[in-house]
Amino acid sequence: MKDFERDYPDFTEAPGFEHGDERPSNRSGNPTFYEVMDAHIKRRGFLTGGLATIATGIFGTALTGRAAMAEATAPSGLLGFTAVPVSMEDNVTVPEGYRVQVLGAWGTPITGDMPAFAPDNSAAQQEMQTGMHHDGMHYFPIDGSSEDGLLVMNHEYIEPRFLHAAKVDGQAMSGRDVPMNADGTREDDDVLKEMYAHGVSIYRTAKQADGTWEIIQDPHNRRIHAMTEMQISGPAAGSAHLITKFSPDGTRTRGTLNNCAHGVTPWNTYMAAEENWAGYFVNTGEQPREHDRYGLPDDNGRYSWEKAASGAEDFTRFNATATGASAAEDYRNEPNTYGWMVEIDPFDPTSTPVKRTHLGRFAHEGVVFAPVVEGQPVVCYSGDDSRFEYIYKFVSSQPYTPGVRGEILDEGTLYVARFNEDGTGEWLSLAPGENGLTPENGFADLADILVNTRLAADQAGATKMDRPEWGTVDPNSGEVYFTLTNNNRREMTEVDAVNPRAVNNFGQIVRWRYPGGDPTATTFEWDLFVIAGTAKHSATFNDMALDEDNIFACPDGIWCDADSRLWIQTDMGDLGPDYTGPLEDFGMNAMLAADPKTGEIRRFLTGPWGQEVTGVITTPDQRTMFVNFQHPGGHATPEQFAAGDYGSSFPDGAGSVPRSATIVITREDGGVIGA
Ligand code: FEO
Ligand code: CA
Ligand code: CA
Ligand code: CA
Repeated sequence: MKDFERDYPDFTEAPGFEHGDERPSNRSGNPTFYEVMDAHIKRRGFLTGGLATIATGIFGTALTGRAAMAEATAPSGLLGFTAVPVSMEDNVTVPEGYRVQVLGAWGTPITGDMPAFAPDNSAAQQEMQTGMHHDGMHYFPIDGSSEDGLLVMNHEYIEPRFLHAAKVDGQAMSGRDVPMNADGTREDDDVLKEMYAHGVSIYRTAKQADGTWEIIQDPHNRRIHAMTEMQISGPAAGSAHLITKFSPDGTRTRGTLNNCAHGVTPWNTYMAAEENWAGYFVNTGEQPREHDRYGLPDDNGRYSWEKAASGAEDFTRFNATATGASAAEDYRNEPNTYGWMVEIDPFDPTSTPVKRTHLGRFAHEGVVFAPVVEGQPVVCYSGDDSRFEYIYKFVSSQPYTPGVRGEILDEGTLYVARFNEDGTGEWLSLAPGENGLTPENGFADLADILVNTRLAADQAGATKMDRPEWGTVDPNSGEVYFTLTNNNRREMTEVDAVNPRAVNNFGQIVRWRYPGGDPTATTFEWDLFVIAGTAKHSATFNDMALDEDNIFACPDGIWCDADSRLWIQTDMGDLGPDYTGPLEDFGMNAMLAADPKTGEIRRFLTGPWGQEVTGVITTPDQRTMFVNFQHPGGHATPEQFAAGDYGSSFPDGAGSVPRSATIVITREDGGVIGA
């Protein structure tokens, strides 16, 4: 029995495991660095010297390239605020001189009849309101304005007991439970409300004379959700893998789900990532590899949508068990129409979202684009957030020129990362005929590779990572940062230079750069910017330990602003004040700011009970920042819920149902956030 299985008989209850996170499904035999490194030295380092020793060993001896990257200098002055302490409170803390406002909490009306939020809102009303569980987000200025723009955000998943609070009040429900009928079916309207609470919200928001921000009723305002029709584009479109009864030509599907982080294209559109989508489906029969490698359930879907009482195909499509004579007569391929990056044009409210298949199919956390250069290809990166999954890069075939649109993402090369122990790395092409991706090895063509991206990456020999989450590119240095949030299932025999800890509860942040400055290059240099944890179990790239001003764990959101201030958001799961365990020193989830050059890190923000901090963007003038709090109250036990204790009262106050929300952060002196 493995340690985590002994400690956590249901590993979904392990620290850092979140509702809906995918079950680990990488069963490839890809070697870990441990097998090719001096295993005895590494193990001794962990056992006797703790992390600091091993970190020094890795940084000091193996990675000669690191020294050049560690430009330890005097404080740069990037961070101009006093750190806030670890918080155990059900509130929001920001540094002195800052103020916060709540905007657009779940259920806030944005379109149609603008129905007011109420715990008993119908599905039809939910469709006109912001969704639940706010996540990745961007501010699209209107005419360049820092006081008037479109706020676009993802709604990753739902908490059914809060969504249906009026109906299930007083019942002992966990955050995963859904209201079921006695006959094992679900009410259609309940399922529809859940579907509409997912997806993406687009709304106009503007700064008012008193300095606060308000939602403006506007033709741009729009909800995209699990029923919105989508186009499928790129090499996998029209392939046999995507044929469904709804789309016999394999070019369309309905809906997007579990939209975690996002991306912003160089042509100013929004991309929503489909992360833990697999769990929404079920296949009780023989699972093909494009289901099995993604961990599709074999019993029932995450919220049992397939059990809606009417049996309408809108719902039964989530049952991907083959029942018809061919793929065009059932929904065996419905899961293959998920797992993509979805492009949305927020400035065209009639546009059809497009799933861009050349960016690969996996648990996309988000996507981040390198700054474009006219005449050079478009480059973007995306992490696959599941234990032991990979980091990918896409390079377009066509060069960027002003006026290009999303079609440029339909032709190019998808790569997967291999991190070598010596601080170098390689991008392994996932193109037909490359790196063993041949028909003899089971990869018929590019569509086959893309639908089975994880298996292709296994074949190519990519490095199994500790749950890749967000990435960001420093606009001034070109360095790329990716958070690796945690991986409590990595064993001692599986540690490597970039994932240096077994039972990694705290996570780390990796960064890389291209010595020649060309992001299309297939080799790179990397280092670990910070190994997160307590003072005892942490290290920055320049060998400093974290302290009371900046200890953190489970980095997830990350965004580098125009001044190179690196904003780091934590997702330790839905921790409440009564939590005990390996993450108890860190308090509630938080956001920190870092200086990439000096390695300084300071805690900037803490949030209420149960939530994670996710999604961050400023207006172009950097004087207004938008941040999301997701799943406040998520830690409440079934017994607490039954007793009317919702875990958190954010943001509406005592006794109210907690709601994910955006907070707007400004400075009392009107200055740049973080400076
Ligand atoms: Fe949805 Fe990987 O956080
Ligand atoms: Ca995330
Ligand atoms: Ca989460
Ligand atoms: Ca996370």
